[in-house]
Amino acid sequence: MTAPIPAIEVIEASKSYGSVRAVNALTLSVARGEVFGLLGPNGAGKTTLLSLLQGLRRPDRGQVRVLGLDMATRARDIKRRIGVQLQRTSLLPDLTALQQVGLFARLYGRELSRSGARQLLARVGLEERASSLPVTLSGGQQQRLALALALVNDPEIVFLDEPTAGLDPQARHNLWDLIRALRAEGRTVSLSTHYIEEADALCDRVAILDHGRLLAVDTPGGLTRRPPAAPAAVISKAPSLEDVFLQLTGRAWREN
Ligand SMILES: Nc1ncnc2c1ncn2[C@@H]1O[C@H](COP(=O)(O)OP(=O)(O)OP(=O)(O)O)[C@@H](O)[C@H]1O
Ligand SMILES: [Mg+2]
Repeated sequence: MTAPIPAIEVIEASKSYGSVRAVNALTLSVARGEVFGLLGPNGAGKTTLLSLLQGLRRPDRGQVRVLGLDMATRARDIKRRIGVQLQRTSLLPDLTALQQVGLFARLYGRELSRSGARQLLARVGLEERASSLPVTLSGGQQQRLALALALVNDPEIVFLDEPTAGLDPQARHNLWDLIRALRAEGRTVSLSTHYIEEADALCDRVAILDHGRLLAVDTPGGLTRRPPAAPAAVISKAPSLEDVFLQLTGRAWREN
């Protein structure tokens, strides 16, 4: 029996900006149907890695394969099958929420009925704001609209860059439910987050990144069962995922 094709494969990929190695010889694989989390301090390389997976940037070295296709030669085919919510999304200022959904669907060559577009807005809790222009939406509502736009093409993989940054607890939990629903539909979700409890609660596996390198990748439970880095450390309780994160990435402030 042949092994199933992973949703995402990264093989020794590197990406530099001048002298900054944002992604450094990184290798990882994400199975279909997984919710895969990227954790890392500011500047760790999460957004850059996501941009390679989304075909928005090309690696300087190494290979990125998505849904079994090589991003270097099949980016167009891949992009039809993935959904992308960027860390900072530019919404079109003169279009209502409903119009933006319709426009994005057409950009993907899909005809979405008005009720289909409304249903998509309802999925992100914006059914009441269908006629609103972006400027009248709160930051969290704009983010949820961006997520709706990432779903217009019924994607097999959904990439979310800090999807719950700045959301209130209600919106965050609703978004977690939505992400779980996406997984239940068989989609793969790859997300970055600074909220460790979010990675813990939501992700099947978590990658901890720093300085463009993968420091660890495992289930949240597997990461917290790792042996401590310092054998002399007095462990009074089982480490949390946050303890493991700080142990791996240190406590220094990050400059961007
Ligand atoms: N367009 C760019 N030009 C130059 N340097 C960049 C650019 N984008 C990112 N970098 C640098 O690459 C490194 C990785 O940045 P990246 O945005 O991927 O990190 P991140 O993990 O997403 O951080 P954050 O948590 O703050 O979003 C940082 O040192 C950053 O300053
Ligand atoms: Mg980022």
